[in-house]
Amino acid sequence: MTRQADKPFLYVVVCAAGVAEEVSKLITAAQERNWDVGVIATPLGLGFIDAVAIEAQTGYPIRSAWRSPGDPRPFPDPDAVAVAPATFNTINKWAAGIADTLALGTLCEASGLGVPIAVLPRVSDGLAAHPAYEESVARLSRMGVLFGDRHEGGADGFGWERALDLLATRGGHGAGRVRP
Ligand SMILES: Cc1cc2nc3c(=O)[nH]c(=O)nc-3n(C[C@H](O)[C@H](O)[C@H](O)COP(=O)(O)O)c2cc1C
Repeated sequence: MTRQADKPFLYVVVCAAGVAEEVSKLITAAQERNWDVGVIATPLGLGFIDAVAIEAQTGYPIRSAWRSPGDPRPFPDPDAVAVAPATFNTINKWAAGIADTLALGTLCEASGLGVPIAVLPRVSDGLAAHPAYEESVARLSRMGVLFGDRHEGGADGFGWERALDLLATRGGHGAGRVRP
């Protein structure tokens, strides 16, 4: 698909949680709000989504690994990022500054550049009780990252559009540039 230059570009970062199988709901909602959308999945997140369907829906290849140095960049710079679902693992690694997946490297850089980022955590009560979780959310929040309520249940009621509502509070379109 040709880049829709008149539309802002949203990165949807998808982690390895069960609700990821319904991420098409977020993509549809974002497109209805005039976002052009590209998906970055964590390596394990790839196993939770229907890559063929999502690539057809977005018009872009799903990214999960870094490109080779000489290859063109598959996505334009993001105007905003939605992390949904966000796992315990990715939230903690992001807060710690670990960038060992394309998703994490993109998040670490985008938050550093001031690109608006909204996060919908899908983290169980047990994992959320680990002290690292609260500290990570607090650290990322201080960096300006926007958090929706933590979701603990199944796919019902995940509230995908909350990510877009949070981004709208930041004017929706980013100030920063990243070049993953
Ligand atoms: C079926 C299944 C469902 C999972 N659901 C969640 C979840 O909702 N939240 C979570 O934090 N981890 C969940 N996990 C564990 C993560 O997949 C695991 O921590 C993984 O390392 C996360 O990788 P990522 O953060 O790079 O996507 C689930 C694992 C499986 C196999």
